[in-house]
Amino acid sequence: MNILLIGSGGREHALAWAISASPLCDKLFIAPGNPGTGQCGTNIVLDIADHRAVADFCKVMGVGLAVIGPEGPLVDGIADDLEAAGIKTFGPSKAAAQLEGSKAFTKELCAEFDIPTAAFARFTDEAAARAYVAKTGAPLVIKADGLAAGKGVVMAETIEQANEALAMMFSGGLGAAGAEVVIEEWMIGEEASFFALCDGTHALALASAQDHKRVGDGDTGPNTGGMGAYSPAPVMTKALEDQVMAEIIAPTLAGMAKRGTPFKGILYAGLMITAQGPKLIEYNTRFGDPECEVLMPRLKSDIVPALLAACDGVLNAVDLRWSDQAALTVVMAANGYPATPEKGSVIKGIEKAAAEKDVLVFHAGTQAKGDDIIANGGRVLNIVALGKTVSEAQAKAYAAVDLIDWPGGFCRRDIGWQAVKREREG
Ligand code: AMP
Ligand code: GLY
Repeated sequence: MNILLIGSGGREHALAWAISASPLCDKLFIAPGNPGTGQCGTNIVLDIADHRAVADFCKVMGVGLAVIGPEGPLVDGIADDLEAAGIKTFGPSKAAAQLEGSKAFTKELCAEFDIPTAAFARFTDEAAARAYVAKTGAPLVIKADGLAAGKGVVMAETIEQANEALAMMFSGGLGAAGAEVVIEEWMIGEEASFFALCDGTHALALASAQDHKRVGDGDTGPNTGGMGAYSPAPVMTKALEDQVMAEIIAPTLAGMAKRGTPFKGILYAGLMITAQGPKLIEYNTRFGDPECEVLMPRLKSDIVPALLAACDGVLNAVDLRWSDQAALTVVMAANGYPATPEKGSVIKGIEKAAAEKDVLVFHAGTQAKGDDIIANGGRVLNIVALGKTVSEAQAKAYAAVDLIDWPGGFCRRDIGWQAVKREREG
């Protein structure tokens, strides 16, 4: 079968790596891809926003499965348009992608189907929102309703900070994403991400992971797309996973199906493990990046039959095997990231790092220039390692990081610190 994968990040290199290993995969095309995905298949130039052009490409090249990596095209309805053109597509419909596209949509779903989450209120009017803040008091979390590239959440410790965030959002500081604002209770606990594969009716638990959103060591500095991750997340015991499947994922699928917008694809639940149990922070409707880079190396089963089963509504017949090893990825980013990443610097030592035992290098914002690989984005490389423990994976990953010769880039030196601390304390 020929397969088309849409996207160009580290997530897509990890997916391309897993998909291309399947005996079911004949040709793999990646649009637009990156130099890493180019080692797993053929990168192609396609205007992703032009869904008809994507469908035409699939027909001409005999593509039997399209896999959508990022959320943008999903929220834009690419899965609906490809399916309408007769192309089997892995990823939710536009209506179902609202679980990521609109925070208010997800909060209403939680309220309707009793899914544990932070208490909330929605506002389209600044004065009403300010009155709510005055009445409720701080701390609070202020969120723009729409997709805001990771900038749409303000943790307000004081009423002044809450009002500042409201002013910023309602004055158009985040564009249309901030036309509606959700104000939430500030939940306390440890965060974890949990991934489930869904076919509209059934959900198959994949694995847990933990991301590191802040740019600096010790979780300092501005938020980023993610500076590193590890899987599994030690906070997610088997009992907690079962609880998340029963209390959060299953009612979400049932609710979406009941509303006539069944969810197919990856449900990525951002969770807070509170004293009252796991609660939903938010949903994404795709694999996380860099979480996917630590999930794929742990997946021992062929991913392609699982993706096909999710498309065909027969996931109940699928069983996936996972390595019990831990995986950890360190993201290497271009100097200046996240505000102003510098492009064009030359990166050396990638092959050397990738040749290390139990190490994989997944490309993100790289570009081939002659014989060189140069930086072409914010997050540029993922250095992934497997180990018996997170501590061991961390040591191997940083040993490989040190083989990369790239003065134009940097990374955090403490990815995995929470798990390492937990392992050390036993
Ligand atoms: P989100 O974009 O919704 O995942 O939010 C980004 C980050 O803000 C999360 O990873 C949490 O660290 C934090 N956050 C969001 N909502 C809440 C909440 N209600 N309580 C506590 N922390 C939150
Ligand atoms: N790593 C966070 C995300 O993919 O949204």
